[in-house]
Amino acid sequence: MQKILVLGGAGFIGFHLSKRLVAEGHQVVLVDDFSRGQADPELRTLIAHPQVSLIQADLTDPNSYAQFPRDCHQIYMLAAVVGVRNVEKDPFRVVRVNTLAVMHLLDWIPPGCKLFFASTSEAYAGAFMAGIAHIPTAEDVPLVIQDVTSPRFTYGASKLLGEVAVIHAAKAKGFGYVVGRFHNVYGPRMGADHVIPELSLRAMRRENPFRVYGTDQSRAFCYIDDATQAMSLLMAHAEADNQIVHIGNDTEETNIGDLTELVLKVANFHPSLDRQPAPSGAVNRRCPDIGKLRGLTGFEPKVSLEQGVRQTFEWYQQWFAAQKV
Ligand SMILES: NC(=O)c1ccc[n+]([C@@H]2O[C@H](COP(=O)([O-])OP(=O)(O)OC[C@H]3O[C@@H](n4cnc5c(N)ncnc54)[C@H](O)[C@@H]3O)[C@@H](O)[C@H]2O)c1
Repeated sequence: MQKILVLGGAGFIGFHLSKRLVAEGHQVVLVDDFSRGQADPELRTLIAHPQVSLIQADLTDPNSYAQFPRDCHQIYMLAAVVGVRNVEKDPFRVVRVNTLAVMHLLDWIPPGCKLFFASTSEAYAGAFMAGIAHIPTAEDVPLVIQDVTSPRFTYGASKLLGEVAVIHAAKAKGFGYVVGRFHNVYGPRMGADHVIPELSLRAMRRENPFRVYGTDQSRAFCYIDDATQAMSLLMAHAEADNQIVHIGNDTEETNIGDLTELVLKVANFHPSLDRQPAPSGAVNRRCPDIGKLRGLTGFEPKVSLEQGVRQTFEWYQQWFAAQKV
């Protein structure tokens, strides 16, 4: 049994990861300020488990860290301000929270504790625009911020700085790390702002005509259980120490048009489609090269897109019904 600190533990990935870590027999301390994560019934069930505790704290406040256990074996740093809406609404908040939280963590981190830092494919989105990224994309792609004045790049830039800070703090202070760059992770309890929940909820509301943005844009979606499996394997394998690793699913790339058809099939709903252009600034195609993840850990994604979309849809269907009562 290891003691593991999950920062951002009430959020989407943090919650599902914590459930996995508890099932693996670990003791888990969740930290969250509940700016996005919710103390919903599922979280309350998780924190009622004897191996789990919760600390409500703001990671941008350096005084918060004094209450965290220093005898932890692993830390997963998942806390961040994420999502296009936050980037558009308050880009300074994105930069401020995502950088301050990492810097205070790195000032505090106990020696001998291994750190997982959650980064993103958005850190290299500018490389597509500059025409220098190959698809599927491997870890050695240049991390390009194409326009430093554009709010769109605040999230990617904050994660790029986080990667640099983790790598050099680890060298200076002598702790191990894994930088995991997530690629389009989806599943239950991820909020309503991401494409699969958003399509699912509009299908449940029987929107007709059904708006679809950027049907030709292609993405490789990774179900949450595969993503948390990859994280757990990376932290357990010494070969992955001090590596940057792409986390995603390269086996079932799809475009937004086909994804929409799949969601509508699962919803048993057949509206006419109102095709709209893609949101400005979105990359046309994204697919990770996960050869490094496979080579280091033996990981293989297990959940098909149809299975994952069904499981996600069913969870949102229950959530949707609960909102109406
Ligand atoms: N979901 C994806 O597909 C994806 C893709 C790329 C990168 N990531 C990264 O993975 C991590 C987790 O993403 P997620 O989808 O679970 O997001 P999320 O928003 O669901 O979870 C982040 C959690 O951090 C918490 N938080 C934010 N600011 C905080 C602060 N100052 N102090 C304490 N807690 C704070 C929020 O309340 C939330 O519960 C993030 O760092 C994100 O950038 C996710």
